[in-house]
Amino acid sequence: MKLRQSILVAMLLTTSTAAVAAVTKSPWGKTAEGIPVYLYTLSSADLTVRITTYGARIVSIDAPGRDGKKADVVLGYPDAAQYESDASTYFGAIVGRYGNRIAKGAFRIDGKTYQIPPNNNGNALHGGPAGFSTKVWTAKEIPHGVEMTLVSPDGDMGFPGELTLHVRYTVESGSLHIVYSATTTQPTVINVTNHAYFNLAGDGKGTILPTLLMIDADHYTPVDAGLIPTGELAPVAGTPFDFRKPTAIGARIDTPNEQLKIAGGYDHNFVLNNAGPGLHLAAKAVDPASGRSLTVTTTEPGVQFYSGNFLDGTKTGKFGGKYAIHAGFCLETQHFPDSPNHPKFPSTLLKPGETLHSETVFTFGVEP
Ligand code: GLA
Repeated sequence: MKLRQSILVAMLLTTSTAAVAAVTKSPWGKTAEGIPVYLYTLSSADLTVRITTYGARIVSIDAPGRDGKKADVVLGYPDAAQYESDASTYFGAIVGRYGNRIAKGAFRIDGKTYQIPPNNNGNALHGGPAGFSTKVWTAKEIPHGVEMTLVSPDGDMGFPGELTLHVRYTVESGSLHIVYSATTTQPTVINVTNHAYFNLAGDGKGTILPTLLMIDADHYTPVDAGLIPTGELAPVAGTPFDFRKPTAIGARIDTPNEQLKIAGGYDHNFVLNNAGPGLHLAAKAVDPASGRSLTVTTTEPGVQFYSGNFLDGTKTGKFGGKYAIHAGFCLETQHFPDSPNHPKFPSTLLKPGETLHSETVFTFGVEP
């Protein structure tokens, strides 16, 4: 009896230790202005995740494959300086104050027009040229992870109100949880997401075209030539945008389709079927060769599926080689692009006295 009890206690202890993540902090260079940057390492038995205070970015995620061997499944750079010199990929970053595009960078709140400096073909992308991905965040260790905080001043990149944003990254077993909370001193718009690029075969291990992807969406938001939503919620049925059953990303990416042509592949917001107040399924990706899988759940109504179309072989990654087109894919859980100019889309308005709460979970697993 005693032996059994002690075995039980030992089992419980092992299970809880496996679920608890160890957190360490180390210096990680400085920005060009001389601001010190840090790297936090969050490790459970299943996952090792590295997060930097530069842009609150995910730098690496080591996850096991079918053979038990771990591989780093996100794209990125070996140091802060290289993140700072890249204004186009947003590797691993928290993007904001408004993730994705605002048409012409302009929107109105209570009859007043606000202007964000355009940084993408005349539109504002990911919060403008000095968005949240370019800031050094303050960080503190929390149980199982790290909390990153950014105070965006009133008028930052043209957005009204001082916004205080906390992003909590925690690791439990095979899951990385990202919890966002924000408050503002004046009515503003906010759409924050993480811009990690995944390659479940491993960083630098070819393209993501063989990756099987399922997105739980019957509709997506088609775009105009500037990648701004037309406002329509179009059915995915009968189009290359139908990922309701797992389909290789590359299976239809080259088929003649106006929307694929505009974006040079997939770069579209999908309208999630079960959007509600709690966590719901957004997508699941599987690398058939290694068996690694990624399941994405979120409280957000949409997910931007981006197939790495603008990667052009000029950027050298932490794996030592260049990132070619489709070297990674993004699943950016979010409100829809350009929502401030589409009253029918779910609202991105945040008012004083309200607290924005948003949550996304990336769960890594193995398919038999
Ligand atoms: C988002 C956008 C893309 C592209 C990438 C970054 O996914 O929708 O068009 O700008 O960010 O390169």
